[in-house]
Parts: sequence; structure tokens; C-alpha cells
Amino acid sequence: MRRREFIALVGGAAASWPLTARAEIYPARPITIICPFAAGGPTDVLARLMAEHMGRTLGQNIVVEDITGAAGSIGVGRVAQAPADGYTLGIGHWSTHVVNGAIYALSYDLLRDFEPIAQLPANPMLIITRPSLPAADLKELVGWIKANGNAMVGTAGVGSGSHIAAVYFQNKTATHLQFVPYRGTDPALIDLMAGRLDMMFDQASEAMARVRDGTIKADAVTASTRLASAPDIPTVDEAGVPGLYINIWYGLWAPKGTPPGVIARLTAAAMAAMADPQVQKRFADLGLEAPPPEQQTAAALGRLQRAEIEKWWPIIKAAGIHAQ
Ligand code: MLT
Repeated sequence: MRRREFIALVGGAAASWPLTARAEIYPARPITIICPFAAGGPTDVLARLMAEHMGRTLGQNIVVEDITGAAGSIGVGRVAQAPADGYTLGIGHWSTHVVNGAIYALSYDLLRDFEPIAQLPANPMLIITRPSLPAADLKELVGWIKANGNAMVGTAGVGSGSHIAAVYFQNKTATHLQFVPYRGTDPALIDLMAGRLDMMFDQASEAMARVRDGTIKADAVTASTRLASAPDIPTVDEAGVPGLYINIWYGLWAPKGTPPGVIARLTAAAMAAMADPQVQKRFADLGLEAPPPEQQTAAALGRLQRAEIEKWWPIIKAAGIHAQ
């Protein structure tokens, strides 16, 4: 038998193996997780934390690739188009997998084109300002924005968590904000620290370290309870903008059609990472809270995503937020 015929024969046989048999040899090569926001930001940091532990469990390297732009919709689109073989996955969160469907004409369907893998930790946002901004607390910040006529706010693009939180704040406080889009919150945070922006809504997992070292100020946390890791930062209720709650929950997804055996291995690896005490300590330092194990499953992520789409799409559409 000639070499080309042999390869064709073996290839044909492999394609006809039952999915479970093929899943048993998965993963046979490195896996890529596409992060749809800039390197160094909260999504990228969580992706790398999960990738490192999941790679050890699965016995293969997991590489994180940042494919940014349009509030994460470019990177998520890349996952939708990837082969459904378990070697390209996507990390995303509340805004990429819920909000973007209400404000962008996406080339993919957020529910139909992906297989959920695991629900990952969540965290609220901090309302942060440049250190030189003359406002000691959230009420003074609102007063300063009104007196100033506007404030320059860094966001990760129209529809990102950092943008939607700012729009919500603007509506609740009857202020006017000028949005400055970046490819993720990390580059925006650099400009905030340098005084080129006035304020931001940034996830606790990213902002906390900069609040601790004094390079930015935090006026409130967008939750009804204070963070255990930063008990001196008041809630929005305490600080004077009640009800401004935003919780950014994360998930891992694969392209639609990824074999169930592959998804099961990935879910188990993600859950093993979240059960590891060292990973849990890192989550706690970052202000991230892992869901209880029964909510970490693929099915639980699917249910959460559907429920959040039903809840938020009418709110976002009524707020008239559109991609330019
Ligand atoms: C990021 O990783 O840069 C953020 O998650 C973007 C956002 O604010 O939604």
C-alpha cells in the first residue's frame, strides 16, 4: 500500500471512531483559550490562572491568546468559527456573553453557537478615580462631575462591563460622562494612574492592587455587601448611589459541536482548578468569588447565561445603548 493511501485509510477510520473513543485520547496537543480583552486585564489574568492549573490536570499546555476589539466580540467570534475539537476555547463574561447580544449585530449567536464548559468566579466593580481628582468620596465625585460638566471615563469599548457600569452610573446620578474606549481595562487603568482619565469602573480583581498601593482611589464597590478583601471600601448603597449593582461573572465556552466527552474533561479540569486551595487563595486576594461546585457545571453556566439574557436585554435595549 502506498503511503498516501495508508494515511487516507487511517484518517477515514479515525473519523468513524465513536466520539467517546476519540475523547479518551484528548488532549493530544496544546489547547488555546482565546481571551477577548487586552493582556494584563481581569479577563486575561483569570484566563492564565485557570489555564495553568487546567493544563496540569489535562497533561497539556494551555496557551492564552488575546484577540481584542469591539468589547470582546471579535475574540468571541473567533471562538465561534474555530473547529469544534476542544483545542480552541473562549473565556468570556457577563458583557461578552450577555450584553453584546443586545447592542451589536453579531456574526454568531451567543446561545446556539457555543457549548458551555464551566462557570468561573465573579467579582463586582470598583468605582475608581485618578489620585489627584479633588473628591474624597462618591458624593463629592458626583458633585465634582456636575460642577465640571463631564468626566473622562476609560472603558473596554461600547458594551463592555466597564462601559455598561458607567452608563448605569450616569443614568442614576444624572451626570454626563465622556467615554474613552480601549481594548481592555488594563490600558485604560494605565492612563487613569497617569492622570489622563478622571475615573473608571474596573473589576475588583484588577483595581484592588492599585488601590492598595495608593496609585488610584476607590470610592465604592458595585455590590450590596463590602468585599472581604477590602472591607474599608463602602458599598454603592452606603456611598450614596444605591442599587448600582454590577457583578461580572465569568465562563468558559467551546465552539458548538465540541464532543460531549471533551466538554466533560474540560469541565472537570476547570472544577479541579477552582477546588485547589492555592487557586482559591489567589481568587480571594483578587476579590474573586468562585461559585459553589454545583453552579460550576456546564449546565449551570448555560442556565445562568439564558437567565441573564432574559433579564438584561430589555434593560440594555431600553437604555438605548448601541455600538457606534
Ligand atoms: C477586561 O478584561 O479588560 C475587562 O473584562 C473588560 C470589561 O470591562 O468588560
